[in-house]
Amino acid sequence: MIAAPLFIISVPELVIAQCKAGIVGSFPALNAREGEGDPPLLDAWLTQISEELDRHNQANPDRPAAPFAVNQIVHRSNTRLERDLEICARHKVPIWITSLGARVEVNEAAHSCGGVVLHDIINNTFAKKAIAKGADGLVAVAAGAGGHAGQQSPFALMAEIREWFEGPVALSGAIATGQALLAARAMGADFGYVGSPFIATQEANAQSDYKQMIVESGAEDIIYSSLFTGVWGNYLRGSVENAGMDPDNLPEADSSSMNFSSGSSKPKAWKTIWGSGQGIGAIKSVGPAGAIVDRMSDEYAAAGARLAGEFGGDDD
Ligand SMILES: Cc1cc2nc3c(=O)[nH]c(=O)nc-3n(C[C@H](O)[C@H](O)[C@H](O)COP(=O)(O)O)c2cc1C
Repeated sequence: MIAAPLFIISVPELVIAQCKAGIVGSFPALNAREGEGDPPLLDAWLTQISEELDRHNQANPDRPAAPFAVNQIVHRSNTRLERDLEICARHKVPIWITSLGARVEVNEAAHSCGGVVLHDIINNTFAKKAIAKGADGLVAVAAGAGGHAGQQSPFALMAEIREWFEGPVALSGAIATGQALLAARAMGADFGYVGSPFIATQEANAQSDYKQMIVESGAEDIIYSSLFTGVWGNYLRGSVENAGMDPDNLPEADSSSMNFSSGSSKPKAWKTIWGSGQGIGAIKSVGPAGAIVDRMSDEYAAAGARLAGEFGGDDD
């Protein structure tokens, strides 16, 4: 399981909790925003995460932390990309997740420090481009995912990718139970990539109303719109209503309105209009991130044992 990077929400406390619980934790580099003239916060975050995980590994050699990942938004409006690549290479970030554009120089920066790159795609054409440009693996974002989701069935997307690609693939889109994680593996994915469930955790940097809305909502409460960032994505219906808009009659936006420059007003959209995937029916309360990992791990083992029984295998 890989915990997906979440704009604003994924902060070192959450990443550290995810890694200590045994899954890959991640955050978008853009979440580390320092004040004007201050030293890069990304540098401080990476030091904090590495030191805390080293301490954990020394104290728990039998249960070491999983590696962490940093997400780079490779979009022309991300004006600090070059600086962030240098900082991540210097800190030898083990896993680099790239989204919204495949660029050779990002892959080269990752490889220069021994990192691996997983590139986020929503269809087979983008998947082929990403691998051609030097990514090591893929994050296949299928229908139902939180944030900038795709529209394809995970069954179709995984099958098309596995026709030509044998490298690492993480499958994403409404995976919130161990049963769904096992299904992703059965489809040929190496990892399940899980985002929205981690919004409703103590360690997440989200308002308590947002966490509570995740707990109280289900798949029917998710709407698909391009209005808020210029890219199609999934959002909580209740947050759109609270902002005074009609979720069933939203206009479309064009992709030129996307902007990830530092200091942009766009984070505001994410602060009032709340992103979420369709899998949140499985989230019944706000708790520690480690509890989600434990629950999904138990469900995964039980579902695997049940299927092994059906196929005549043993159940351990
Ligand atoms: C609130 C929110 C913010 C997100 N921010 C980012 C981001 O900054 N970068 C990115 O690559 N993906 C982002 N995503 C997408 C997730 O990384 C991931 O693809 C998605 O959450 C997986 O689907 P799930 O939420 O159904 O598990 C975001 C998703 C949500 C719900």
